[in-house]
Amino acid sequence: MLGLLLLLSLVSAVTPDYFMGTVVTHHPVRTDADGSVTVLLRSKMNFQACRDVGWRCSDGDCGAEHVEVNPASVLGGEEGCQTEAVSTRTLPSNAPFQLQLDAGEWISQAKNGVRAARALTLVDLRTRSDTRGPNVSPQTTFLPAVRVPSNCHRDLKLLAFDPDGDEVRCRYAAAPECVDCTPPSVLSLSSSCTLSVGPASAGAEGPYVVQLMMEDFPRQNVTLTHTDGSQEVKTSKHAISKVPVQFVLWVDPPAPECTEGVYVPQYLPPTPADGAELYIPANKELEITVTARAQTSTISELLLSGPHGSTSTGQDATRPGVFVLRWTPSERETGTSHPFCYSVRALYKGARFESKQQCVVVNVVPPAEHRIAPRAIDVQISQVQSSIPLQIFGVKVRVETPGALKQSDLDSALQQAQNLLKTYGYLPSGASVSFVSSSPSI
Ligand SMILES: *[C@@H]1O[C@H](CO)[C@@H](O)[C@H](O)[C@H]1NC(C)=O
Repeated sequence: MLGLLLLLSLVSAVTPDYFMGTVVTHHPVRTDADGSVTVLLRSKMNFQACRDVGWRCSDGDCGAEHVEVNPASVLGGEEGCQTEAVSTRTLPSNAPFQLQLDAGEWISQAKNGVRAARALTLVDLRTRSDTRGPNVSPQTTFLPAVRVPSNCHRDLKLLAFDPDGDEVRCRYAAAPECVDCTPPSVLSLSSSCTLSVGPASAGAEGPYVVQLMMEDFPRQNVTLTHTDGSQEVKTSKHAISKVPVQFVLWVDPPAPECTEGVYVPQYLPPTPADGAELYIPANKELEITVTARAQTSTISELLLSGPHGSTSTGQDATRPGVFVLRWTPSERETGTSHPFCYSVRALYKGARFESKQQCVVVNVVPPAEHRIAPRAIDVQISQVQSSIPLQIFGVKVRVETPGALKQSDLDSALQQAQNLLKTYGYLPSGASVSFVSSSPSI
């Protein structure tokens, strides 16, 4: 460990260590009887060398912090290194607070002239009237750097997922969320978090600093209740939390052709659909296969931004363009959602071509998940005349009660089973659950 630290400080002494972006999301962990609240903040930070800078409290009571910093992904040269800091904060109450990052200077010669690196996040953990729990921020991640050939058009869809079901919107950061806030001229941003770039002129080539804010807006009025009992109404026009998404966009020299699959890699099955939601029990290994091809260029690597501990195994000679991502969530990650974003890079005569970034959301379900896994029951449906395909599954639920089993216990178990099946994605909307039998029976 000491050897590694020495090596890193040597490297940063030789090449100046520039900031290359950050993403931070928050997830409440628990509320204690005394009103204190624990929240987990995941902050991805990109520097040229693998470095991390702490966030400081800029508004409110930010509580006591415990941080773990882990490398998330290491890219080469000007692509930098992404670390993930997992910070647990214990707060005396659920009052909102704000954290600020001042991380030195951005990569030099950014085309939009941004130098000073600043990011800001707002955490609001007051109890929501709809979910009866603290608010959860939008969940997202982004690769440290995105490359687009200058003559090609590309839509960059940011992964924007909100566990509370809020509407997620994006905008450019504005002071004091940034110091130099000039947005890149080559980009246009929609409030639904899609960035469109190019085609741009040849003079537009180079790095651009992108500083965005992602916010969650309730779909209906929501009352937020403070630990001290005071309340505030948030309408669909008020953001509840703020999450910064900052990265470097490289406009590269033109590609001979923009069509995917020629120079720019194209995804092939079984690559999951962009934005797909996956479910994995804690302690089980998740495996995602990403496959890409390019006719003229040669696929060289996969770039990944995933949670700490996620790995990607590269292609081999027998399976060119096939990458396997793996991750085993721990039990303490149960109930949390983790974004994975990746792109595939190809080389041709020294030029780099990257596929569009795609993301999936991985939801960690309890390790006991197999106990509720539905099992298909063999049924004969002869009288039912139905034009829609019908599938019937059986689930066995064990209900424990302090006294004798009552009908209300079964009704409650049915409701809970239905909620669980929906949460874990087993139950499509429109499906229904009904009670068949119990033993002992009532
Ligand atoms: C939502 O709250 C606002 C402000 O408190 C109020 O003016 C509005 O009538 C409310 N809307 C609904 C549908 O309750």
